[in-house]
Amino acid sequence: MQQITLRRPDDWHLHLRDGPMLEGIVGESARDFARAIVMPNLVPPVVTRADALAYRDRIRAALGDDPFRPCMTLYLTEATDPDDVAAAAEDGLVTAVKLYPAGATTNSQSGVRDLGEVMPVLERMAAIGLPLCIHGEVTTPEVDIFDREAVFIETVLDPLRARLPELRITLEHVTTKDGVDYVREAEKNLACTLTTHHLVIDRNHMLVGGIRPHYYCLPIVKRAEHKRALRAAAVSGDARIFLGTDSAPHVDAAKETGCGCAGVFSATNTLPILAQVFEEDGALDRLEAFTSLNGAAWYGMDPNEATITLERSDDPVTFPARIETGAGPVTVFDPQMEIHWRVAR
Ligand code: NCD
Ligand code: ZN
Repeated sequence: MQQITLRRPDDWHLHLRDGPMLEGIVGESARDFARAIVMPNLVPPVVTRADALAYRDRIRAALGDDPFRPCMTLYLTEATDPDDVAAAAEDGLVTAVKLYPAGATTNSQSGVRDLGEVMPVLERMAAIGLPLCIHGEVTTPEVDIFDREAVFIETVLDPLRARLPELRITLEHVTTKDGVDYVREAEKNLACTLTTHHLVIDRNHMLVGGIRPHYYCLPIVKRAEHKRALRAAAVSGDARIFLGTDSAPHVDAAKETGCGCAGVFSATNTLPILAQVFEEDGALDRLEAFTSLNGAAWYGMDPNEATITLERSDDPVTFPARIETGAGPVTVFDPQMEIHWRVAR
């Protein structure tokens, strides 16, 4: 049997939610991953150091004695206090600050409307080397939803980088060729995460033959040519490009409705899907860089000592269609392709 052993992976962009949802899904990430950057878009959001401490404690309580490490983030608002951010970074509680343009995605109402208002925070972050994670989409009503990432890069990200070149920026869940090209052309202080699902589906999967709400996420899936560019970037081994699943659970009732929530839940089967993608693209030897090395290096952490082994089976492997949680059932990402890899237990 073909096997591949990797340093234990990390997920550099993950939604764990709270309460019964947190309790129901955290094990899906802890099973295969050692660490994750945990997104702060709760209701209300995780804005202050005290909020992050309390949220970390709730995550730890849900984990029990599992050693999975949540790396916390703060949700940037126009009222964020630079001293509070610096204090949270200093003791290692937070790994990054998250910028949501107001209105860009799930629970982003408290996000930033005017970047000028948060410059004192960003300047402080640049000075102490704390990275800014960015949801890179404009929210201008006139801009087509499929163009919002490319327009953000040109009109917001590039000017911000010119104004504050020392700020370390992670452009999150890049979904376009424009995005990966921009990151690969950058000289310094810019990296990006890619999700599992954006390497596998394009907008036809979501819209042809019926509308599939479980593929609706933000940034929205784009044309197939963008998916191909993302895959090429993922398998390239480029040190600035690494996994952030953006696994974002919503209960089925909130997805399968007249106005469904954005988010794909992929924690359960991400690693087998990625092994399949890297195998198909002839790059299994670069899977570890994408899942376990590049992101840790970017965030200034050592790779995990522990390892994980993936094994190939001749027969396709199946995964649970949904995870039952105390909040309700959550559908697991269906890659619509045969997967021949599983994590050895
Ligand atoms: C995320 C969520 O549900 O919190 N949804 C999504 O479609 N990715 C928010 C986000 O990361 O944009
Ligand atoms: Zn997200």
